[in-house]
Amino acid sequence: MKAGVIGIGAALPEEIVTNADLVKHLDTSDEWIVRRTGIRERRLLNGSRTLADLASEACTMALKDAGREAKDIDRVMVCSLTPDRMMPGLAPAVAQQIGCDLAGAVDLNAACAGFLYALDQAAALVESGRANLVVVCGAEALSRITDHSDRGTAILFADGAGAVVVAAADIEHGLSTFELRSDGRHSDLLYAEIDERLLRMEGREVYRHAVARMVEATEAALQRASITTEDVDVFVAHQANARIIEAAARRLGVPEEKVVINVDTVANTSSASIPIALWQAEREGRLKSGHVVAMATFGAGFAWGAGIMSWKEHARVSA
Ligand SMILES: CC(C)(COP(=O)(O)OP(=O)(O)OC[C@H]1O[C@@H](n2cnc3c(N)ncnc32)[C@H](O)[C@@H]1OP(=O)(O)O)[C@@H](O)C(=O)NCCC(=O)NCCS
Repeated sequence: MKAGVIGIGAALPEEIVTNADLVKHLDTSDEWIVRRTGIRERRLLNGSRTLADLASEACTMALKDAGREAKDIDRVMVCSLTPDRMMPGLAPAVAQQIGCDLAGAVDLNAACAGFLYALDQAAALVESGRANLVVVCGAEALSRITDHSDRGTAILFADGAGAVVVAAADIEHGLSTFELRSDGRHSDLLYAEIDERLLRMEGREVYRHAVARMVEATEAALQRASITTEDVDVFVAHQANARIIEAAARRLGVPEEKVVINVDTVANTSSASIPIALWQAEREGRLKSGHVVAMATFGAGFAWGAGIMSWKEHARVSA
């Protein structure tokens, strides 16, 4: 038995903030933001809903997509660096809202890399037989820790949630290989202090590390999976900045048509960005059952990594 993704869902807040909206109070321009980041608009949680609400919507959608019931879930894992409260974490509230309040529920924080770290752990739980059905959700309200007067960061970060359901299946590949790494020496390049609670970043340095580390990790994951870039059908990197993703794809030799970019409409949603991008790619018909997906991420810590998976392989096997 292997662990595979069998369902996906996402939820975005209703409020849309465009670059034109930001220009009203920031010394910036739509042209600058689009050219340097690819971002045109972002979604913000405006207080009418909690982050747990948003995460639960994504998880419920993923569960429905998987055709499974909440009562069968063994574990709910929610990655977030912006939970509704300092404690408790989001996961128990999400478990309760989706209808499996007796399941194990745990928060995990590896900043923007959280989703791949959690996916790796979910796969390990399922492959070892310790769990049969695990929901993995990335949920962020980065607007809560954004300095909205800092043009270097206020343009980049946003809110959203994405979730997948991981289950044991009689498949060949599933969630095959993950390469997860960290380097705490660079923690001062991207952080939020516990008292100030505002995200601070050396953008140019982060950019440089992000491209190099995501490329290294993806190459290592491909090698461990005994495949090459040519075997990859879809490349989904953390949606931090279109230029970062394009530069990484170029260095890896992944052609443009295989690269998923949705940062233009959702901006950087940290640990939620990969599942939201997967969800959108599937809806647009770019991601299909059996596709080989390479994922890469990078964020504060630094913590980063890459993973290779076959997309909803169970559907092809049972077809
Ligand atoms: C933040 C980022 C878009 C800035 O782009 P950049 O090309 O590196 O720009 P720099 O920070 O070097 O700044 C260049 C100039 O643009 C200015 N600038 C910064 N933000 C600006 C904005 N929103 N509008 C207009 N000008 C801006 C700077 O003040 C600087 O001006 P100066 O040359 O007069 O000093 C880019 O560095 C980036 O995306 N970094 C990675 C961020 C990231 O993804 N972090 C999360 C990882 S999980």
